[in-house]
Amino acid sequence: MKARDYAPLIAELAKVYAQRSPRSKALQDEAVNYLVDGGSHTLRLIKPFPPRIAAAHGAWLTDEDGHQIMDLWQGHMANILGHNPPEITAPVADAMAGGFGLQTGFTDRLQVDTARILCQQTGSERVRFTTSGALATMYAIMLGRAFTGRELVLKVGGGWHGSQPWALKGIDYHGGIGNGYQAVESNGVPAAVTDQVLVTPFNDPDRLRDLFRATGDQMACFIMEPFIGVGGFMPASAEFVQAARELSQQYGVVLILDEVIAGFRFRAGNMGALYGVQPDLTTFGKIIGGGMPVAAVAGRAEIMELAGVSEGGSRTYETARVKFSGGTYSAHPASMLAARTMMTYLADHEAKVYPRLGELGELARRTVRDAFAAEGIYVHVTGGGGVLPSGDALLPAGSSMYMLHFPFEPDRPIVSPSDCFDPDRCDITLSHTVLDLAMIVEDVFMLHSHAGLSTAHTESDIAFLGEACRQAAHRIRPYL
Ligand SMILES: Cc1ncc(COP(=O)(O)O)c(C=O)c1O
Repeated sequence: MKARDYAPLIAELAKVYAQRSPRSKALQDEAVNYLVDGGSHTLRLIKPFPPRIAAAHGAWLTDEDGHQIMDLWQGHMANILGHNPPEITAPVADAMAGGFGLQTGFTDRLQVDTARILCQQTGSERVRFTTSGALATMYAIMLGRAFTGRELVLKVGGGWHGSQPWALKGIDYHGGIGNGYQAVESNGVPAAVTDQVLVTPFNDPDRLRDLFRATGDQMACFIMEPFIGVGGFMPASAEFVQAARELSQQYGVVLILDEVIAGFRFRAGNMGALYGVQPDLTTFGKIIGGGMPVAAVAGRAEIMELAGVSEGGSRTYETARVKFSGGTYSAHPASMLAARTMMTYLADHEAKVYPRLGELGELARRTVRDAFAAEGIYVHVTGGGGVLPSGDALLPAGSSMYMLHFPFEPDRPIVSPSDCFDPDRCDITLSHTVLDLAMIVEDVFMLHSHAGLSTAHTESDIAFLGEACRQAAHRIRPYL
């Protein structure tokens, strides 16, 4: 493999970007005086500086420098109807104007309605709301540990469940797959927690069986994404999900499907249903909030009720076994209104929304592949399809998410994070650093080669994407 030196290309792109975006650059220069690295979410802080966004409508952003940017990042994949869709903003604006929107510190009808629709659409018996996906996965793990009385937590290598103590082992994306995803990747987390976290490879049912055989009787819960998000935008194989369900039942382990990305992305409900699998608990976030900070843990009543205080009068607030509690802003009124509106909209328009998104996803995948191929560059695009053992498509309506990978050997399969984040197998600098910049100077935002479409995107947006990819590929070609 020829060593690729992208430094001159990155420097050239950074220069073009800085010249065309002086206001965003000036804001970054100011931001670093107050904010760590200039912001509050590392992923958003692309180098040399992020575009500072002033407005966002549908598929498009406007930045401080007045560029119109076609957005494929869409609120960390939360915005399935595009940015600020009137279906959500209108009722929220009306509620605010009517004096019911900011925090009350009470509970209300909205929360009941929102819980009802989430339970109905996902086959869950109980739900509790919180404000971020990381909190949802943390509480789900606490519930799993309390329910089983066991210590060990199993996760997937490359699985991202948010920044919380049980989830910061085995997530390494950008430094390669070092140590088989066994590394703890944050300081400040107690070893007493991370020592209890085991890591297994994605889409490898045989290794999963081995692990359950060895440690299943000490395992509290297994948390996994049915559609792995940050780890490469790939559906789990039906064999893997079914093995996870069977083994967890056999060994009395709580199965948690983390659907913070997948929930309501491929159907108006949970993705587990597409596999014919009902997990013990599911975590939700992103889309369900309709653009507001809503996340949830939902699932079997007997596990969820461990968070409660009412079991036969024997538990009190003080003795509730899992403190899935507190959260000043949990089930915030405007958030519940946005969540109820979004989930109701998706349920009512399911037959239209998802086939349309799948169609756009297919078109985008084809367009991107063709654009790079026209410059002689092979790009592997994950995110499509998936097949069930019955031979049926896992995502009958298709998928609106995709990610670009540039493998050095095009024929080797890419089915797990360890395939696509191994720098010896895929060109990570190209997919993560070069492409971000090469696309933004063409007015397309695509973070680390991840892309998600919304119903606001159109065929002409995809044609715009194709042209941007062609320009980017043309710049990149001489460096390969
Ligand atoms: C699958 C998954 N779980 C959990 C999280 C964490 O969610 P949040 O960023 O809302 O804390 C994310 C965020 O990207 C995610 O993709």
